Formats: sequence, C-alpha cells, structure tokens
Amino acid sequence: MIKIGLFYGSDEGATRYCAGLIKDQFPEGQIDVHDIADADPADFGEYEFMILGIPTWDFGELQSDWEEFWEKLEGIDFSGKICALFGLGDQRGYGDYYLDAMGMLNDVIEGNGAIVIGNWPIDSYDFEASKALMDNGTHFVGLGLDEDQQEELTNERIEKWTAQIKEEMGLG
Ligand SMILES: Cc1cc2nc3c(=O)[nH]c(=O)nc-3n(C[C@H](O)[C@H](O)[C@H](O)COP(=O)(O)O)c2cc1C
Repeated sequence: MIKIGLFYGSDEGATRYCAGLIKDQFPEGQIDVHDIADADPADFGEYEFMILGIPTWDFGELQSDWEEFWEKLEGIDFSGKICALFGLGDQRGYGDYYLDAMGMLNDVIEGNGAIVIGNWPIDSYDFEASKALMDNGTHFVGLGLDEDQQEELTNERIEKWTAQIKEEMGLG
C-alpha cells in the first residue's frame, strides 16, 4: 500500500480534528499523521504523496508551528512529489484574508517542485479576498474548510475532496 504523509499544524485543534476526518477516509494504515510542531524535514523525504493542512491566523499569517518550521520547509526538495493542501479559516470574521496561509504554503512547495493536486471550487464560500486562489479566482489551491462559519459542510466537503484526490493520486 502506498503511504501518504499528512502534515498539519493547529493552534486550537480545528485543523487537527479535520486531519483526523481526512485520515478516516483512507484505508487503515495508509496515512501517517504528523503534527508539524514535532516534525523533522527528513520526515517529508519518506513520502511521494502528501497532504498538508494549515489554518490562517492573525490577519493573513501562518499558524505558529508552521511559521516556526518555515525556513526548514523552504529547504525541502519537493521535486515530483504529489501534494494536496487543506486550509482552515473564518470567511466571515477574516474575509479579507480567508485561507491566506494555504496560499503561502502552496507557493513554497510548488516553488520547490511539488505537483499540487486537489484544487477546489470557491462556489460555496463567501469571502472578500484570499491568497489561496488560482484559475482566475474560480478555485482554491486546496480544500477550504471553515469550522467557524460552515461547520455543517465539513464532512461532506472532506468526503468529496478525498475522493477527488484519491483519483488524482491514482489510488482509485
Ligand atoms: C485571532 C484570530 C485570527 C484569525 N485570522 C484569520 C485569518 O486571517 N484568516 C482566516 O481565514 N482565518 C482566521 N482565523 C480563523 C482560524 O483560522 C480558524 O478559527 C481555524 O479553524 C483555527 O484553526 P486551529 O484550531 O487548527 O488553529 C483567525 C482566528 C482568530 C481567533
């Protein structure tokens, strides 16, 4: 079985919780979950397939553990690695910065050679601006989740998105 490394950071637990929901959509043992607070750059070398989760904090800033890891991240070679991103934010409370950190994460790993999959349509969201947009603003670079304003949509979004990335990863 192909192993997938899921790396996440979380200040208040929402991203950790969603990482667990994503893990549950895959067969037992397929996903190794790493809290970025305890991760080492070498951990990233173990996987060809990765899922990276990051919430945005403090008006468009990185979550604190990702921020601490950032310099190391910039030194990691992602050449040919298949990566899917998910981000958490609050589209009403911080609508000018919704999911910005996911966009910043995308820029670094793509710049370092990653093939980013799992782009996601913005249709069911209401926000002003985001650094996580692509395709002329029609899609996010990864799955957008909002446990503050649209908690009721999280399960459905995760089910649909994980089916999409399994397909894109060639896992059927
Ligand atoms: C002080 C504060 C600042 C925040 N800033 C942003 C922001 O700039 N953009 C955004 O999309 N969400 C923002 N959020 C919402 C968080 O990203 C959201 O609550 C998320 O679920 C937190 O994830 P965590 O529990 O894994 O840390 C902010 C929340 C707080 C309390």
